[in-house]
Amino acid sequence: MNTTVEQLRREVELQLNRIGFSETPARLYDPVRYMLALGGKRMRPVLVLLANRMFGGNEQQAMPAALAVEVFHNFTLLHDDIMDKAPLRRGQATVHEKWNPDIAILSGDAMFVKSCQLMMASPSAAMPAVMNLFLQTALEVCEGQQLDMDFEHSAEVRIEEYLDMIRLKTAVLLGASLGIGAALAGASAEATGHVYDFGVNLGVAFQLQDDILDVYGDADKFGKQVGGDILANKKTFLLLTALEKAEGTLRDQLLYWLQEPASDEKVQGVKAVYAGLKVREAALTKMESLYQAALDHLEALPLSAEQTQPLRELAAMLMAREN
Ligand code: IPE
Ligand code: IPE
Ligand code: MG
Ligand code: MG
Ligand code: MG
Repeated sequence: MNTTVEQLRREVELQLNRIGFSETPARLYDPVRYMLALGGKRMRPVLVLLANRMFGGNEQQAMPAALAVEVFHNFTLLHDDIMDKAPLRRGQATVHEKWNPDIAILSGDAMFVKSCQLMMASPSAAMPAVMNLFLQTALEVCEGQQLDMDFEHSAEVRIEEYLDMIRLKTAVLLGASLGIGAALAGASAEATGHVYDFGVNLGVAFQLQDDILDVYGDADKFGKQVGGDILANKKTFLLLTALEKAEGTLRDQLLYWLQEPASDEKVQGVKAVYAGLKVREAALTKMESLYQAALDHLEALPLSAEQTQPLRELAAMLMAREN
């Protein structure tokens, strides 16, 4: 286990517990506390702190920004779970299931506001750059989420369009976490650009992994409903590759299952087509090439292998994750 990453994760956990949301109204803030207490990998705040440390920044000054990206991420999950009709998150009931969708919307809104307040507690010298990157990223996540939903109802989605959609909904936040950490440490625009691009490439690989786990993950470890993307006809890399490759009977089977309503048989049916076309292997190959592209951006930094080591270890851990 990477000791730097583990140590930073523990520190983030401690500080998240200390944010101190109001007790009232309970039905606004209880879901916020519930969501933040469910855990999660805390990868984004750790990325802020790792980038900050790599460029010689002050950890205490970067902590509010680290907490901000985690609170922001959790806000997106509250709303994403409504949109995806997801029953499970981190092994527990989603907020809209445990309470109701109205509550998940408003608690999510409050978390977004809180994330902005936290970001604004960053040192003033870096504030304009940090806030600009954060808010631009927040807007891009909305764009990605809309495209994700549009694609559910669109018959023709090209793999390039899918890759751009996941860049927006997922990858830019990883890039921004690193970019914000670097900017807070006073890194040059060029260096900040490279860590941002490292994060974006890693983030696209990360979302491909998420799509793979959604089909092939171990339900106990994954913490989310396995098969959810198939049930919703999500245009994932797996489905798009299958649509591109399938011919004859396999194509007929795939098109049949796509117009069937959600059921366990549908998940099994689509998985059988995937197996016949080896789409999991294709997704893993694409993921690996994006991971390598990410690492190339680290090589371009004016830093030693020793200085970039924790970031490389975190990236390797993420590529091997099961949740
Ligand atoms: C889930 O993010 C949403 C995606 C972008 C796939 P994580 O996999 O980082 O979720 P947690 O925070 O660890 O639960
Ligand atoms: C998540 O994509 C992207 C955001 C939350 C912005 P998914 O919908 O695949 O994430 P999970 O699988 O629900 O975590
Ligand atoms: Mg989802
Ligand atoms: Mg989603
Ligand atoms: Mg997913």
